[in-house]
Amino acid sequence: MTDKLWGGRFTEATDELVERVNASVIFDQRLYREDIAGSIAHIRMLASVGLVTAADAAAIEGGLREIRHEIDSGRFVWRIDREDVHMNIEAALAERLGVTAGRLHTARSRNDQVALDLRLYLREALLDRASDVLDFADALLEQAADKTHVVLPGYTHLQRAQPVSLAHHLHAYVAMLLRDATRLLDAHDRANELPLGSGALAGTPHPIDRMHVAASLGFPRLTANSLDAVSDRDVAVEFLSAASLCMNHLSRLSEELVLWVSQEFRYVTLSDAFCTGSSIMPQKKNPDIPELVRGKTGRVTGSLVSLLMTLKGLPLAYNKDMQEDKEPVFDALDTLRDCLVVLTRTMRAATFHPEQMASGLRAGFVMATDIADALVQVGVPFRDAHHRVGALVQKCSADGTELESLSDMDWATLVPELTMEQVRKALDPIVSLQRRNQPGSPAPNRVEEAQVRHLASVSEIRARVVASRADTEIMGWLRDGSVE
Ligand code: ARG
Repeated sequence: MTDKLWGGRFTEATDELVERVNASVIFDQRLYREDIAGSIAHIRMLASVGLVTAADAAAIEGGLREIRHEIDSGRFVWRIDREDVHMNIEAALAERLGVTAGRLHTARSRNDQVALDLRLYLREALLDRASDVLDFADALLEQAADKTHVVLPGYTHLQRAQPVSLAHHLHAYVAMLLRDATRLLDAHDRANELPLGSGALAGTPHPIDRMHVAASLGFPRLTANSLDAVSDRDVAVEFLSAASLCMNHLSRLSEELVLWVSQEFRYVTLSDAFCTGSSIMPQKKNPDIPELVRGKTGRVTGSLVSLLMTLKGLPLAYNKDMQEDKEPVFDALDTLRDCLVVLTRTMRAATFHPEQMASGLRAGFVMATDIADALVQVGVPFRDAHHRVGALVQKCSADGTELESLSDMDWATLVPELTMEQVRKALDPIVSLQRRNQPGSPAPNRVEEAQVRHLASVSEIRARVVASRADTEIMGWLRDGSVE
């Protein structure tokens, strides 16, 4: 049985199953702080323009604050028959204040109310995730700091290709993470507009002051179109796509950790704290955490696709389908946070094995391109050099040897253009790195520059997060309910 939430139009009780399908309170109660903050800003504005008396506004604000504390302390009883977070709070207010509570919803609809709540929630959550991303970038940069001379084979097609440094390799992920953090901030900035005042879809005839509400809630702008504002979920989609892409990056790194801890590579050891054993094989130490991060990437991308499919083809303006926006968003927010934090800790506690990485360079003809490049330096056209070194590799393969084990005589016969000094240099991975000295390349001095640049970028983006937070600090009471 339901109490009459929708007023006089309804005479029959809601079917119980409909109640369950229709209700969102189980998951949207997570928006209660935002909902109450939005209501307080709204009632203050209604009082300021004379739509409610100061006394009624004060009573309503007081009631909302009490409800806020009741929810904070876990004493509030959420009722599924009251459908969603908005109705639960409004009904609880009515229990306290009687008919006066009914003045709160003047010039407002749940459609612009929920649009506001979601923006308020995501505005903060996007900044939280951006700073989690930056923490992870910091952890990678800490690991990279002393690894500009740690050489390992770089891979293409998972075949040993050319030497790179571990620092350069880690920096590749830092570059991805910096883009991820920026994407989250860009989504934040675009969403930073007040939708309240759009009404159900067509605004309100009451003389409200939208800028007043925007100022109390720290929004620099108002949404431009009421139809769009109540049915726009771009911020949710942008978050989910930024999250999916970020998870893709985490997944690639995780895959490398899974490979690198294997007996086949042994490039890294993960702390026991981030691994588990097997119930049957006593020797096993499994990299479950990177495996799960890789696995959860599917889940976050699933959330993105789920929301896009929900929104596709919806006519203007609000449709109840949109209630399906919250679960994917909340799930992705939690999953992304957990994955970032756990990988940050995993990487901080990881031990890399430079000797093992270097041994990866001794097989697989990783230095072949350097020999070809040395030939180019003494005037041989690159295609010709490529062909001749290919033949050299072919000979070694047939003999079951490596370039490094060819004799001085072999070199003199096969590549007479090069002195032994030039050959030795071309076979030295550190020299190879040093020669790859273009901006963005793995030469140790370039990687040191990149380290400085990346650290500066992390600080710059962090400053952007802090500045954006300051915009919303006005809503301190949104966080702890106490500050005015
Ligand atoms: N629970 C709803 C949602 O999440 C709130 C808005 C409902 N509006 C309505 N007219 N039924 O979208």
